[in-house]
Amino acid sequence: MKERILKKKQKKESSNRWLRRQLNDEYYIRAKIDGFRSRSSYKLIQINEKFNFLGSRKSILDLGCSPGGWLQIADKFSPNNCKILGIDIIDLKKLPNITFLKKDIFDAEIINKIKDFFDNKKIDLLMSDMSPNSSGNKNLDHIRIVSLVERVLEIANEILDKDGILVSKIFQGGAQGELIEKMKKNLNTIKYFKPKASRVVSAEIYLVAKKK
Ligand SMILES: C[S@@+](CC[C@H](N)C(=O)[O-])C[C@H]1O[C@@H](n2cnc3c(N)ncnc32)[C@H](O)[C@@H]1O
Repeated sequence: MKERILKKKQKKESSNRWLRRQLNDEYYIRAKIDGFRSRSSYKLIQINEKFNFLGSRKSILDLGCSPGGWLQIADKFSPNNCKILGIDIIDLKKLPNITFLKKDIFDAEIINKIKDFFDNKKIDLLMSDMSPNSSGNKNLDHIRIVSLVERVLEIANEILDKDGILVSKIFQGGAQGELIEKMKKNLNTIKYFKPKASRVVSAEIYLVAKKK
């Protein structure tokens, strides 16, 4: 009983801390004002300001798209006829011009479903802002991060066109050895970028590369 009360108290304190941090966060406030679904929208805006890839895309896939901040930016900056598909394990509240699939990217059927949506044509932009839920176990989290990035690379190999752009969240210290070799084998002009909107305390950085 005592333990349950203590756990409840800790949960409340942590959610109060989260709320205080959000209310003091410039990008959280800007997202509310600008009508974006997440502060992450500004990460994609800043990545695009640096690498300028959104304006000319015909087909975009966003892995781990919910609540939809990146999709909003992809739709805003891409040409009108651009086909956009978002995938996530959690629901996405409807967005105009966007098709959504509620699926795990590890689902065996996912690549076929993506190919069907894009009429079996290769696509020119693959984005992933996915991160696994933290388990509290550093080694397990590391394995999960690496397998997410490996899966993104597998999907990129199947559906991204030559010179198509891959933008993927990775984590500092997350890409090592075999994973870096896989990236070099399949990608060109690999660049790493930490947008200002990414919290300094977060180990996340973004990889921007072209498919070989
Ligand atoms: C940081 S959020 C993405 C925020 C989004 N870019 C935006 O701007 O609103 C990461 C998302 O990745 C999703 N995700 C994590 N693992 C996944 C998986 N295996 N398959 C599909 N989605 C996954 C989570 O459900 C979560 O919604």
